[in-house]
Amino acid sequence: MSESNYPLEPYKIKSVEPIKKLNQKQREQALKDSGYNVFTIPSEKVYIDLLTDSGTSAMSDHQWAGIMTGDESYAGSRNYFHFQKTVRDVFGFKHVIPTHQGRAAERILFEVTTKKGDYVPNNIHFDTTRANLEFRGVVCDDLVQDSAYDPDKEALFKGDMDIKKLEQFISKKNPQNIPFVMITITNNSGGGQPVSLKNIKDVSRICRKHNIPLYLDACRFAENAYFIKKYESGYSGKSIPEIVNEIFSYADGATMSAKKDALVNIGGFVAVNDDELAEKLKYNLIRSEGFATYGGLAGRDLEAVSRGLKEVLEEDYLEHRIGQVRYLWECLNKQGVPVYSPPGGHAVYLLGDRFLPHIPRNQYPAWAVTVALYREAGIRTVGIGGVMFGKTDKKTGKEIFPELELVRLAIPRRVYTLSHFNFIAEAVIRTYQKRKHIKGFRMVHQAPYLRHFTAEMEEIP
Ligand code: F0G
Repeated sequence: MSESNYPLEPYKIKSVEPIKKLNQKQREQALKDSGYNVFTIPSEKVYIDLLTDSGTSAMSDHQWAGIMTGDESYAGSRNYFHFQKTVRDVFGFKHVIPTHQGRAAERILFEVTTKKGDYVPNNIHFDTTRANLEFRGVVCDDLVQDSAYDPDKEALFKGDMDIKKLEQFISKKNPQNIPFVMITITNNSGGGQPVSLKNIKDVSRICRKHNIPLYLDACRFAENAYFIKKYESGYSGKSIPEIVNEIFSYADGATMSAKKDALVNIGGFVAVNDDELAEKLKYNLIRSEGFATYGGLAGRDLEAVSRGLKEVLEEDYLEHRIGQVRYLWECLNKQGVPVYSPPGGHAVYLLGDRFLPHIPRNQYPAWAVTVALYREAGIRTVGIGGVMFGKTDKKTGKEIFPELELVRLAIPRRVYTLSHFNFIAEAVIRTYQKRKHIKGFRMVHQAPYLRHFTAEMEEIP
């Protein structure tokens, strides 16, 4: 396997966490005990954990040092003021409301801005975003451009929203029924693809014309900014902070899971410009999460977020990060493993339905791949397909499946090294070679929302 494209780490390792590989029999038992759901396998039984890039980053020595400076006062902690200043500097929003993670930011915002029967478009709603909105009776629509659903198309910025679809959507649903438009950067549920600045600007223009606020789901904003710098014309000479500033200048606010591009293990925020809205958000926060200067976090957590938000803007960090993902993608693509193209910012996505063409969608091929990879090598991944987004048609009782049946290999930030990546690539390739022996699954238990977290499965003999 060629090592030439593997980017050099812009850091050295100061602290390590041992990992152990279970033997075949132990892995088989772990699968059985978990109801064939890798979410419920204890992490100590996982060798390489690619379940998520969320909250799994290795913090820097500077962040850990910040932890020791935590001011744990109930109100007005100095770390909050540092956090507020950092978020204002990086994103440019006036009001900053800390939350314990991204979905709390979503809930706080949606509870004060939406009502039953509203419509909210996104390029593609992430699962918690959709669940939080649908829970309030809001109808969610995904208006990403069609190329996002074509995993072979090598286009740039496949996370872009389709402007025509948006205009039609607004005229059909009526701006009064659309409390806001959202764009997710990068587009996690569509191959981790970036959104161009041109697209953000165009969506913003349309929103402003109709007086509809635009909010960005900002989890992976720095990775998105790197793609803009690298591939969007007119931006190669701009710095990452300048690009980030421009991105958010077109929005009225943002929800953020700091567990991604703030390089921390917990944290999030909502940031907005509107004074009245900020007041409402604060009341909601105080009622349900914590006082306005901590929002469910400790002072030390806020400090780690502030420091992480600066580190993530370093270009050598981003070059390495995106390069790592591309390296794994190249190893797999070269060997003919079906992958979503081009590689995204935080993950490599396998095409579950092409990986296992003999397994029909109602036997969840992406899920079957996640089980097979754990069985083969103790690697944990996540299926982003029928189990996560499938729905039962109330009239016919039939299951409706999303367009893509993906298996996400999410890469934790600053955690794994070249030899891990080679191990992962070899294990995926081996599993692909044995694909004919892999079986489909039947769901024997499911929850009403976000069923993938707790679903229990049975392997179909
Ligand atoms: N929005 C996006 C685009 C996300 O990817 C996530 C989380 C959230 C919102 C919610 O943030 O987890 O802090 O509450 N994504 C994780 C993932 C869980 O694995 O992709 P959270």
